[in-house]
Amino acid sequence: MRIINFIELTRNSIIMTTNRRNFLKTATFAGAGAMASGLVSACTPKQTESNLAAIVDSVKKQHVQKFNMSGYAAPAIPIVRVGVIGLGDRGSGAVQRLSYIDGVEITALCDLRKVAVDGSQKYLTSVGKPAAREFYGDDFAWKKLIELPDLDLIYIVTPWIWHTKMAVSAMENGKHTCCEVPIARTIDEAWQLVETSEKTKKHCMMLENCCYDFFELLTLNMARQGMFGDIIHGEGAYIHNLLEMNFRKPQDDKQTDNAYTNLWRLRENATRNGNVYPTHGLGPVCQALKINRGDKMDLLSSVSTADFSMAPKEKELLSTDPMYAEFKDSHFRGNINTSIIKTALGKTIMVQHDTSSTQPYSRIHLVKGTKGMVCKYPIEHIALGEEWADEAKMKELYEKYTPEIIKRVGELAKKVGGHGGMDFIMDWRTIDCLRNGLPLDQNVYDGALWSSIAPLSEWSVANKSQSIEVPDFTGGSWKTNKPHEINLESGGTTKVLDIKEPEAEMQMNVK
Ligand SMILES: NC(=O)c1ccc[n+]([C@@H]2O[C@H](COP(=O)([O-])OP(=O)(O)OC[C@H]3O[C@@H](n4cnc5c(N)ncnc54)[C@H](O)[C@@H]3O)[C@@H](O)[C@H]2O)c1
Repeated sequence: MRIINFIELTRNSIIMTTNRRNFLKTATFAGAGAMASGLVSACTPKQTESNLAAIVDSVKKQHVQKFNMSGYAAPAIPIVRVGVIGLGDRGSGAVQRLSYIDGVEITALCDLRKVAVDGSQKYLTSVGKPAAREFYGDDFAWKKLIELPDLDLIYIVTPWIWHTKMAVSAMENGKHTCCEVPIARTIDEAWQLVETSEKTKKHCMMLENCCYDFFELLTLNMARQGMFGDIIHGEGAYIHNLLEMNFRKPQDDKQTDNAYTNLWRLRENATRNGNVYPTHGLGPVCQALKINRGDKMDLLSSVSTADFSMAPKEKELLSTDPMYAEFKDSHFRGNINTSIIKTALGKTIMVQHDTSSTQPYSRIHLVKGTKGMVCKYPIEHIALGEEWADEAKMKELYEKYTPEIIKRVGELAKKVGGHGGMDFIMDWRTIDCLRNGLPLDQNVYDGALWSSIAPLSEWSVANKSQSIEVPDFTGGSWKTNKPHEINLESGGTTKVLDIKEPEAEMQMNVK
């Protein structure tokens, strides 16, 4: 069992770094014009001392909850009409995954680049789905999509600077929203999301797919059943070498494999210093620790190494390519950031970020209790006592504690794909909750909190690793909020469609 898991892990890591949908290879890099005009870079604000100073006020905000979105069940939507914004590497994969779910109609598509809209439109037609309405051509074309009266869900898959703007606008226009990670870049943005979701009673889910990975769900099920005793500590991380990919630029006006459109992700790394991408490691650990549902984060302290790889990379590239002049003398973030968090009940969390060192992929995923623990990387391990379980015991634990959601759609999810299946489990579960009028597993408080670790870590790093208060986005309701359900006691009725196999060139990306 453990050997298989290791192979799976290795395969996923390879896929995560090398695979990209082929049709995007021919995409025109319209964003290059925007970058040349400074349009997009102007949207990525540099982190300044005054921005960071403002965080201290934002964390102290006393939030009086207007309406509790934790456990909130919106009216059931039997047919969920979806508009997808951002059809690059990840968004085009989302269109593919959603097309396998019964009761989903992808009725509108938007991207800055027409070629990206064309790609997803072509995919829909190739699998026999109706063409969607199209919006493209400028930074704000998405506003028209969000204003459409006949949409239920806005699914956002753009660069980070757009997430909060788009999600807030979606809710204000009467739509539920699901948004890629991180959903907010600043504490103020996180508050905007909370206030808007409570005011409009619209779901605002950050798409933290790692909460739906097989081992993470097994861990959660075991934790809920008390197998580890009291959970007292968790560790998570995003350790993934993206150095080449972050610096990769599209060649000859074409979108190259795995290049981030318009170098948007490099810009994030060149303007901020802290853990800029905390949610993958944090989400599953927070669920095991019942954060926002019985406990809350109190304090965070963060430390970063210096940068040893990004500035040298920039110099090397700039020596032959003037396009990198924008990044000359940038203060790239420190390579490894380590943040520690203390909770109200006296538990601890360590979360790490390193996307610029040569290394194997890891999210750590360590959950430790008074009677047992798990650790996922480099190989899945469980201990219910002082010894790690052997192969036979691991098999037994998998059989006994795999939660119902995995039993129901796990194998189908592996076939549909998306990071080994977890992306599809997430989409299927979210749509099923909407269709059955159930609360979503991740609500606005989770997305706001997990994303807020980025700006809080930036503040702490800039202030000699001093600790900073973590805002309570739940306005105190964490004391009584109930943990979300993972065993499909209700819902679970949505079918997975056996749709026409997409052409080989349209195979889904899983970056
Ligand atoms: N959860 C995961 O495992 C995972 C994996 C990869 C990426 N992501 C997230 O997905 C998001 C997108 O990442 P990606 O890798 O697809 O990047 P990408 O650069 O491949 O795609 C971004 C797309 O957004 C479009 N876009 C930019 N500004 C826009 C605007 N104003 N209006 C409409 N479209 C706009 C771009 O043209 C591009 O097609 C990011 O938030 C990233 O963090 C999550």
